[in-house]
Amino acid sequence: MGDKGLSALRPIFCFLSFILTLHLVHGELSYSVPEEMKRGSVIGNIAKDLGVDLRTLSSRQARVDFEGSSKRYCDINLNTGDLIAAERIDRESLCGKKPSCVLKVDLVLENPLELHRVTFHIQDINDNSPEFNDGLIEMEITESAEKGTRFSIEEAHDADIGQNTVQRYNLQKNDNFILSVDNNKVELVLETKLDREKQNELSLLLTALDGGSPQRSGSVVIHITVLDANDNAPVFSQAVYKASLPENSPLDTVVVTVSATDADEGVNGAVTYQFGHVSDDDMNIFSIDPKTGEIRVKGVIDFEERSSFETRVKAKDGLGLTSYSKVVIDVTDINDNAPVIYVKSLTNPIPENVSPGTEVGIINVQDRDSESNRQVRCSIQQNVPFKLVPSIKNYYSLVTTGQLDRELVSDYNITITATDEGSPPLSSSKTVELSVADINDNPPEFEEQSYSAYVSENNKPGSTLCSVSAADPDWRQNGTVIYSLLPAEVNGAQVSSYVSVNGDTGVIHAVRSFDYEQLRSFKVQVMARDNGSPPLSSNVTVSVFISDVNDNSPQILYPAPEGNSFMTELVPKAAHGGSLVSKVIAVDADSGQNAWLSYHIVKSTDPGLFSIGVHSGEIRTQRDISESDSMKQNLIVAVKDNGQPSLSATCSVYLLISDNLAEVPELKDISYDEKNSKLTSYLIIALVSVSTFFLTFIIIILGVRFCRRRKPRLLFDGAVAIPSAYLPPNYADVDGTGTLRSTYNYDAYLTTGSRTSDFKFVTSYNDNTLPADQTLKKSPSDFAEVRSLLFSFSFPLPKPLFTKHL
Ligand SMILES: *[C@@H]1O[C@H](CO)[C@@H](O)[C@H](O)[C@H]1NC(C)=O
Ligand SMILES: *[C@@H]1O[C@H](CO)[C@@H](O)[C@H](O)[C@H]1NC(C)=O
Ligand SMILES: *[C@@H]1O[C@H](CO)[C@@H](O)[C@H](O)[C@H]1NC(C)=O
Repeated sequence: MGDKGLSALRPIFCFLSFILTLHLVHGELSYSVPEEMKRGSVIGNIAKDLGVDLRTLSSRQARVDFEGSSKRYCDINLNTGDLIAAERIDRESLCGKKPSCVLKVDLVLENPLELHRVTFHIQDINDNSPEFNDGLIEMEITESAEKGTRFSIEEAHDADIGQNTVQRYNLQKNDNFILSVDNNKVELVLETKLDREKQNELSLLLTALDGGSPQRSGSVVIHITVLDANDNAPVFSQAVYKASLPENSPLDTVVVTVSATDADEGVNGAVTYQFGHVSDDDMNIFSIDPKTGEIRVKGVIDFEERSSFETRVKAKDGLGLTSYSKVVIDVTDINDNAPVIYVKSLTNPIPENVSPGTEVGIINVQDRDSESNRQVRCSIQQNVPFKLVPSIKNYYSLVTTGQLDRELVSDYNITITATDEGSPPLSSSKTVELSVADINDNPPEFEEQSYSAYVSENNKPGSTLCSVSAADPDWRQNGTVIYSLLPAEVNGAQVSSYVSVNGDTGVIHAVRSFDYEQLRSFKVQVMARDNGSPPLSSNVTVSVFISDVNDNSPQILYPAPEGNSFMTELVPKAAHGGSLVSKVIAVDADSGQNAWLSYHIVKSTDPGLFSIGVHSGEIRTQRDISESDSMKQNLIVAVKDNGQPSLSATCSVYLLISDNLAEVPELKDISYDEKNSKLTSYLIIALVSVSTFFLTFIIIILGVRFCRRRKPRLLFDGAVAIPSAYLPPNYADVDGTGTLRSTYNYDAYLTTGSRTSDFKFVTSYNDNTLPADQTLKKSPSDFAEVRSLLFSFSFPLPKPLFTKHL
């Protein structure tokens, strides 16, 4: 209430109060006074209210007495009688919250003492603002607080009363809280849940308003700290972590780092990592750092075992909220596997006759790496007749490129090399041993083109002649050589009766004793055959040459040895020295030196009369015959060959020095006891005479004929021809060729001596008719039995030389 109003009302108040005062104790005065009046403000007029004049007031020394109070709230202006506010009157300090505030004072008047009670009713004015106890209200609310949760706020105070105290509150607009005021209870109600992670604190201004006029207000800041609740699970930065890792990465290589964040704080936001469910195998391959989330290599990474890993990782915060992510690790290949060569099939051994291009084996190459690291190239060395032909995929055929020959190369070591295309490339090799199986493709081959064997006659049966040898490079039985004789005839007999060959050694043995005089040489065919199937063979000729041994004594053909024939040579009495009187004819079945004969007179009747040509066997007179010489002369001639040791034969030559057969009365005596009668002699003479003409005719014919033939070979110097017929059967012609003549032609020889003309008629015979085992072992008597007659006539011209042969 303004002072003006009060002043206007004052007379009425004063009057009423006066009345009242007067009525009570000499009257009691009552004033209604607003608090906080200005000093000097007139509260009322005492004089009027008491009905005393001013002089009285002053004379009676009117005064206000505040009992027990040091303060003098009002005074009396004695000049005007006004009651004046002397001091500030604060209702709140006088009365607090009491609804009525009465201040009683005594008004004292002296002379006489008069006491009046003056009551001041102090009226409230809105002089206090609402007030909060603290300038700042700190609150901590966990973010997990539920909606509707109430939080009490200490209410505001206002010293005023009534309408002048706090009437209402006002909360600054915000997202989370509303204000609930009920019966002076002020509460914040959580309308929307707090989220520390969005806003970890908030300040709200709360204003309290009173109902005074003018209205007063007071406010306080409510500072709310949002406390964390573990309401956030960790969150991985990626849903899937992909990493690529080369195989064979060393231990502790960081593969990938997973990371999860947790919006919570403190323990609630402390994330640890671990693997989700993993198999035991993978457990040993990777490790995860629980703090940093680094996934590292812990074991052996082998692309060929596992090319990718997929695992779950778990992030967990301190209070156990978890989340998961996936980690995919792709392992990349490193060329760490060399190719491996497998021999899938192999024909071993291979026959040497396979045609070029034959497949002998199948090779497979594998490489466990991938991509180009598993691309493999395969090769074999150059110098073998094989090649690799690529087939499907990593298969190769091993085929021959040329003709094989076991005899040249029997084993091959084929080295197969496989190289991959990695970087750096890896390679490996494998050696395949291949043997070449034998085929019987080589015939045995003799070391020599031909063989010659030399053997002396009279060899022991079974003696070794020579040995042949053939080689066959084939294998085992295909190269085993067996020797055999090819059937043939030698001299009309099976060759096997002459020689045999040792089938294993090729040594050739004589089966029989050879006789040079019968067979000088022969040829046999030896076959070397291998044991293959079919067998192969080759032949070789073995020439066997038999050499002579002096095994034949000279054979005296003429004169016939004693006993069977009796021949006497007539020596004309007029023979001069040097005349040929006879000739000893001998042959030797041997050849060469062994048949080179020499003649010697061993014994003679008259040693000085006759001599014999050492080589010709011609007996000649050494001097003229004289009358004194004995008519009968006997010579014993030895014929020796030149062999070592030499063999010899002897014969007797009977010579009769006479001009006429008739003069030989002792002819009978000379001859041994013969049965020939004189008649016989005459018959012979007659026969000879008759024949002479016939023979002369023949001689002429033959002479013409033989003079046209090659000059006959003379064994002697022409005086006496030795007919070849005298040669024994199988007598080899000594012409140096060494060839065996199967037949001999016997020719009659016509020779003219110096003084004699000898005619010898011979027949010929073929030695082939002789049995093979017939040797020249004829005794002189054999000659007589030979049907082929030997006629030897000597016609002495002018002195016939008579040969009598019986
Ligand atoms: C093949 O190899 C084997 C074993 O190493 C060896 O004994 C043989 O002599 C070799 N053969 C050839 C033909 O090189
Ligand atoms: C000999 O050769 C034949 C084919 O001619 C062959 O079948 C056989 O196996 C060979 N024998 C040996 C021991 O090699
Ligand atoms: C060897 O001689 C025999 C018999 O004459 C014949 O069958 C064979 O073919 C000959 N062998 C050779 C290689 O000439």
